[in-house]
Amino acid sequence: MSEATMGTLASEKEQALEKPGQRIALYYFWAAMVLFIAQIAFGVVVGMQYLYPDLFFNVLDFSVARMVHINAMIVWLLMGFIGCIYWLVEDEAGCDLVGAKLALLNFWILSAAVTVVVVVYLFVQIGPGEIETIWLINEGREYIEAPRWADIGIVICMLIFFYNVAATFMKGQWSGISGVLVLDLIALAALYLAGMYFTPNISVDQHWWWWVVHLWVEATWEVLVGCIMAWGLIRTLGVNRRIVTTWLYIEVAMMFGSGILGLGHHYFWIGTPEYWLTIGGFFSALEPIPLVAMVVHAVYDAGRHSFKSTNHPALAWLIAHAFGNFFGAGVWGFMHTLPQINLYTHGTQWTSSHGHLAFFGAYATIVIAVIYLAIQKARGDVWMSGGLPGNGWCWKWSLALLNIGVLGMTIALLVSGYEQSFVERALGGSTWSAYFQGQTTEWFVQGMYWRMIFGWVTAAGLVLLMWDLLTIGRTEARPIQVLSRPDAVAV
Ligand code: HEM
Ligand code: HEM
Ligand SMILES: [Fe+2]
Repeated sequence: MSEATMGTLASEKEQALEKPGQRIALYYFWAAMVLFIAQIAFGVVVGMQYLYPDLFFNVLDFSVARMVHINAMIVWLLMGFIGCIYWLVEDEAGCDLVGAKLALLNFWILSAAVTVVVVVYLFVQIGPGEIETIWLINEGREYIEAPRWADIGIVICMLIFFYNVAATFMKGQWSGISGVLVLDLIALAALYLAGMYFTPNISVDQHWWWWVVHLWVEATWEVLVGCIMAWGLIRTLGVNRRIVTTWLYIEVAMMFGSGILGLGHHYFWIGTPEYWLTIGGFFSALEPIPLVAMVVHAVYDAGRHSFKSTNHPALAWLIAHAFGNFFGAGVWGFMHTLPQINLYTHGTQWTSSHGHLAFFGAYATIVIAVIYLAIQKARGDVWMSGGLPGNGWCWKWSLALLNIGVLGMTIALLVSGYEQSFVERALGGSTWSAYFQGQTTEWFVQGMYWRMIFGWVTAAGLVLLMWDLLTIGRTEARPIQVLSRPDAVAV
């Protein structure tokens, strides 16, 4: 997005944003939203290809559209997280961002690199798999397919980002939240390196690749959203800082305690030693516990403050996050995490059901929540509590359609996955013909249709969300609601 477009998106009041880090955060947020649109557009294509396998044959094949769908998701969530952190770092540190110009340059380089990578995915859809392919086209590692040159660029961008954040806290002040945040960012960035290791041995390759995918979403990303949530609860509800920080420490301890060895639930069938069956089964089964703690914490806080908040859409999305995280990751993850069950469900639509609810519920929601906080301030710290005038219905409908859409897809996929596990694995004994039989049963096929119906509902919710983000608060004259607690806004 060019400077000019950014300018037109900004109202007069919007240009009043004083803090440089917060200005940069808005760039990241809009870029994240553009990629979110791309993710859903390609999601609709892959979903339709399940129903009409000829669709875009040889033009945009399933494998490529699927790759763009899930890579766009990872990148928009990462950009969203970077935006969240740039948004809160100055509040937490109590001073302006260090190296703001560098951060902006970083944004443009990252965005340009992402664009080039996607264009190459789309133009070079097939070809030989050689060492040059890894360097220039894609690495073939699901979710993090970016070619090696982009990997190196991403690492440099992350280092600059890390420097900016850590140096800002060093210049200003540290808090419990920022301490956890900075340590977590080190782990998050270091894990990315594990996904760059190349070996032709597929078992070894998968072994390391899971370090990124699992240890990101079930350890470092969870801790990151824990920090964002802690800060978000202080902002929207005026919750006492000492209470949220205590919760945060407990959640982090439990999250790492279970999530690190929980990695073993991906080592069941890839050629790693058998002891992973026990370790993975046991520790990953404990993973829902911190997620229960997180949901209890959020609901308790919101209830104690009678849901009186400075920003209703943000609070609603924070609550959606707490429940989405608990159900998508905790409950849906737990369902197939014991090896005795995973033997039947591994790699079926059951997995996809969990993947959709977990990524949306745990991560998309919280990024959207912080975007609402950012938009509120950008529009001039306007009223965003109850009784919004004009299109006050818009945020509620987009919240409802997006959540009902993803939940509907999740249930449809679970029905298909159940049938698939039953027919292909339990009855058919995982033979080649049972594989196809499992995917042609009536229940499986109907599940695919229902997924698509709810996929369209999700897409409609996204359209409304974009409209709302562009318009909310523009005509609002009332100032932001003041909460009675003194620590509400004074962070
Ligand atoms: C927000 C956190 C989480 C996210 C975003 C997430 C996402 C995913 C995704 C996308 C996959 C599919 C990976 C692939 O392509 O093969 C997956 C697999 C899996 N997840 Fe999660 N997950 C989360 C938390 C959890 C938790 C807490 C558990 C256990 C309690 C869990 C259990 C599993 C298992 C067992 C698999 C392997 C499925 C198979 O064998 O096919 N996940 N997860
Ligand atoms: C219009 C809505 C959407 C549709 C129609 C859709 C469709 C699909 C399809 C067809 C796949 C490939 C599944 C396979 O290989 O069998 C997929 C994969 C995936 N999608 Fe979506 N999707 C949508 C929205 C989303 C959203 C909102 C998220 C999360 C924020 C998401 C996250 C994922 C993930 C993580 C995978 C990989 C799952 C796995 O490996 O098991 N999708 N999606
Ligand atoms: Fe995992």
